[in-house]
Amino acid sequence: MSQIKRVGVVGSGQMGGGIAQVAAVSGFETVVMDTSAEAVARCEANHDKLLARAVEKGKMTEDDVKAAKSRLTYVTDVKDLGQSDIVIEAVVENAEVKKAIFKQLAAMFTGDQILASNTSSISITEIAAATDCPERVIGMHFFFPVPVMKLVEVINGLATDSKVTERVIALAEAMGKIALPANDRAGFISNRVLMPMINEAFYAWMEGVAEPKDIDGIMKLGCNHPMGPLELADFIGLDTCAHIMNVLAEGLHSERYRPCPKLDQLVVAGRMGRKSGRGVYEY
Ligand code: CAA
Repeated sequence: MSQIKRVGVVGSGQMGGGIAQVAAVSGFETVVMDTSAEAVARCEANHDKLLARAVEKGKMTEDDVKAAKSRLTYVTDVKDLGQSDIVIEAVVENAEVKKAIFKQLAAMFTGDQILASNTSSISITEIAAATDCPERVIGMHFFFPVPVMKLVEVINGLATDSKVTERVIALAEAMGKIALPANDRAGFISNRVLMPMINEAFYAWMEGVAEPKDIDGIMKLGCNHPMGPLELADFIGLDTCAHIMNVLAEGLHSERYRPCPKLDQLVVAGRMGRKSGRGVYEY
């Protein structure tokens, strides 16, 4: 099996952009693809900003940045993913959208290229079943902000080839990350444990047990979490949190995972967290 040299990323949002940045900085030829020119332009501008900040902080030299930028290509057509040895999909958390993309990727990449999904909760087996090469499909779940967070949760689908898993672990390590395995159950490990904690914080707030800043303060100071659960929910996006809770409820067949009404209410009100300027807190 060939060594991974070229990385394709589908989706240029917060996660896709972060994955592409880390891949390019780590020495991989990287193509990042999104369907709109505005989205890729935003992604490139964000890369420029974050790489310039890395120079200011003395973490990278101007030459490092130039080299990383020369390895990055921004495209708007999936066909331009070209010679990628692995394609990492990081689009919206919607099973149907992901399945359509994987079907298209499987038809384009017919060799031993790896098709990975950055999904945070959708079944890898289900995504893989949309292709005729489920053995090459795997979950590679990065965390936000990708340049900072060390973990990649690696999820095998039912049919994933163990050689594919080995190559993905090697890639994650070459990107400076630590790869840890989780099986293909809803939410894997990270979101199965994190999201119910966040959801419980919304219940505690709704029931008047404490105010948001005190809930967050208690968890930060008492449990050494870098962010309190409500602050973290705003950081992730309240719509994403509610969506993942629903995926857990359906995938684990238990209503106890449904989003707290308080969380649902903020989402319905358009208060999605940092990205919309207001969530639990105002920004
Ligand atoms: N993009 C890139 N880098 C960022 C960043 C961003 N959005 N936000 C912060 N950083 C970097 C800063 O540049 C800084 O880098 P240096 O150390 O090189 O200077 C570093 O992160 C620390 O930032 P700050 O000093 O400004 O702030 P901080 O010490 O408060 O840390 C934090 C910020 C790293 C985000 C920290 O609060 C934290 O770890 N929070 C928890 C994050 C977390 O839990 N993420 C997982 C979310 S769940 C998920 O992603 C999975 C899912 O499926 C939903």
